[in-house]
Amino acid sequence: MPWITKNSGSATIETRDEPYLTAEMTKKLREDYIPRYAKPKGALFAALHMIQHHYGWVPKQAMKEIAEVLDIAPSEVLDTVTFYEEYWEHSKGENLISVCRSIACEFCSATACTEAIKDKLGIDVGQTTEDGKFTLVELECIGSCGTAPAALINEDLHENLTPERTVQLIEQVQNGTYQPGGTGAVKEDL
Ligand code: FES
Repeated sequence: MPWITKNSGSATIETRDEPYLTAEMTKKLREDYIPRYAKPKGALFAALHMIQHHYGWVPKQAMKEIAEVLDIAPSEVLDTVTFYEEYWEHSKGENLISVCRSIACEFCSATACTEAIKDKLGIDVGQTTEDGKFTLVELECIGSCGTAPAALINEDLHENLTPERTVQLIEQVQNGTYQPGGTGAVKEDL
């Protein structure tokens, strides 16, 4: 199999004047997180989570800024971001719909749910709606095989889905009646 390579050496990084790592974030990193580790590099995950939670993704400029604070090479930050699929290297929609595509869900009609979402939003897997409201992705097993098919709306778990229920949930997000928590939260309340 041929390896696909990128010419990273000559790649240009889009930058903006305002740093992504705000003064407040830098202070938190230096004062709260870095002291917990033997080396500043130990705070890399904390720094990446901070950026991703704030912006929804991790821009390359932010990777450089993190590297500077942690005194590591920018390539080490990039390696980490590209290794873990939870980190986003490009911006995504306001709401992330993640449908499990692993075997239990596939047997229980996850594909029909994905198709229903694609039809409803007019996008394919991996795409974002034009209004920037929704991004659709597929994930491997999200640990809810017993209640397949399962999907996440942002961080909410929804179980025993049907195409109709999936579309209903999207409509709730669209019209502002969506109740965060998902079916996982309902179970915990019982
Ligand atoms: S296979 Fe979908 S949650 Fe496990």
